[in-house]
Amino acid sequence: MRILIVYHSDYGSTEKMAQAIAAGASASQPNCHISTKQAAETGLDDLQQADVIFFGTPVHMGSMAWQMKKLVDETSKLWMENVLEGKVGGVFATGGGLGSAGGGIEQTLISLHSNFLEHGMIVVGFPKSLPSYADAGLQWGVAARTSNHEGMPQGINESALVAARSYGAHVAAMAAHILGFDL
Ligand SMILES: Cc1cc2nc3c(=O)[nH]c(=O)nc-3n(C[C@H](O)[C@H](O)[C@H](O)COP(=O)(O)O)c2cc1C
Repeated sequence: MRILIVYHSDYGSTEKMAQAIAAGASASQPNCHISTKQAAETGLDDLQQADVIFFGTPVHMGSMAWQMKKLVDETSKLWMENVLEGKVGGVFATGGGLGSAGGGIEQTLISLHSNFLEHGMIVVGFPKSLPSYADAGLQWGVAARTSNHEGMPQGINESALVAARSYGAHVAAMAAHILGFDL
């Protein structure tokens, strides 16, 4: 099973989450091939070759970073040929999150779901029973807050990394089951 974790990150928080998702997936499914790639370095052939695709982004002005949206828009070529149909997807995001409702992180995750579902992919959510869901979970995927109450960046904390590892492990296990790699 080939797992591809695609993300954009300017300051490293989303990249750390991508690496934690990779670590969780690897612990859960030691025999799978896992790679992480910046969105700007990801080609359509990378997506085509993967069985499982994660998309991760920082929240920028309430939605995904433009570098991620550029790749999302480019996948329209794959949509024409139904190339991503039946692949398994997972999503994650980081955001400063100033205010009580996360600064747009929830709709950012949902818009990534929307793209995966448009392709006919199977999207795996984040069950609340998994470790650190209460710290960095939403039913859609991993949602890590990276700013303090003054809106100043403070980076990724350990509990968010635990959430990312547990989600990575969960999506990989679900994908192995759904796609028949655990037979
Ligand atoms: C241009 C820009 C716009 C941002 N807009 C938002 C926003 O609307 N909501 C939010 O919660 N955080 C916002 N942030 C904060 C980032 O989402 C947050 O710092 C994120 O964790 C950065 O991830 P990175 O370290 O991977 O680049 C913004 C940051 C930048 C640079």
